[in-house]
Amino acid sequence: MSQVIIVTGGAGGIGAPLCRALAADGYTVVVADFAADAGNALAEDINRSGGKAVFQQLDVRDKAGAERLAADTLKSFGQIDVLINAAGVISRMPVLEMPEAEWDRVLGINLKGTFLCSQAVARHMAERKSGKIICVASGRGIAGQRRAAHYAASKGGVIAFVKSLALELAPQSVAVNAIAPGATDTAMSRSGSTDEEWKKRAAVPPMMGGLTEKDEIVGVVRYLLSEPARHITGQTFLLRTP
Ligand SMILES: NC(=O)c1ccc[n+]([C@@H]2O[C@H](COP(=O)([O-])OP(=O)(O)OC[C@H]3O[C@@H](n4cnc5c(N)ncnc54)[C@H](O)[C@@H]3O)[C@@H](O)[C@H]2O)c1
Repeated sequence: MSQVIIVTGGAGGIGAPLCRALAADGYTVVVADFAADAGNALAEDINRSGGKAVFQQLDVRDKAGAERLAADTLKSFGQIDVLINAAGVISRMPVLEMPEAEWDRVLGINLKGTFLCSQAVARHMAERKSGKIICVASGRGIAGQRRAAHYAASKGGVIAFVKSLALELAPQSVAVNAIAPGATDTAMSRSGSTDEEWKKRAAVPPMMGGLTEKDEIVGVVRYLLSEPARHITGQTFLLRTP
């Protein structure tokens, strides 16, 4: 019986390569995303290539939807071994011009969504005394971000949430970790920039390497799911010095 993994934001720029790689590793993948066309297409493509995937539409802000996702996955596949919280959004504006509704939207998807999906799935994992939760945070959650304070606050919140949930679930052998990529070439990171501005931003060298590559994120996820990482919990894997 293959292990079962749910990836929220699974149809996105970071989520989709994760879904493909984990399906190739033999996981049954539940692609959970707001974007139905992209999510269905990805699941079909994975199945055509010999992997196993299903799509479930989800707004991570919807508690009932998160609970349905967990229940439907259990009904179809009998267990949930891994949850990756990768759904997220950003917008760019200074704090002094930020509407309250935009603060709520970004915190709602990035932070509350992570809480709701983790809670729905962790109930099952805690009962089973086994499971892994990986949250995609961001280096910006540590360093802050000009013109995206709501985003930075949401990701800092995700990092603190991960540490707290890891403490709570350690007795049940459920590991909870975060990955904090640097800028990665996806629709999200390009949003609000012209091609020229993006190229300029991408060319600024951090300490080592340039943009975070998607295969780096896949590599860290594979490590966290591997046997030698079985006792690692509450950690944030910062992939670039912000
Ligand atoms: N791209 C980067 O530079 C970067 C850097 C650090 C962290 N991250 C984080 O990585 C994660 C993935 O980002 P990405 O770059 O792949 O962005 P993306 O825009 O390519 O993908 C995000 C996905 O989330 C989905 N989504 C948005 N709102 C949703 C909701 N309410 N419910 C369910 N799904 C929803 C979108 O449909 C999309 O498929 C995000 O959490 C992001 O904050 C990205």
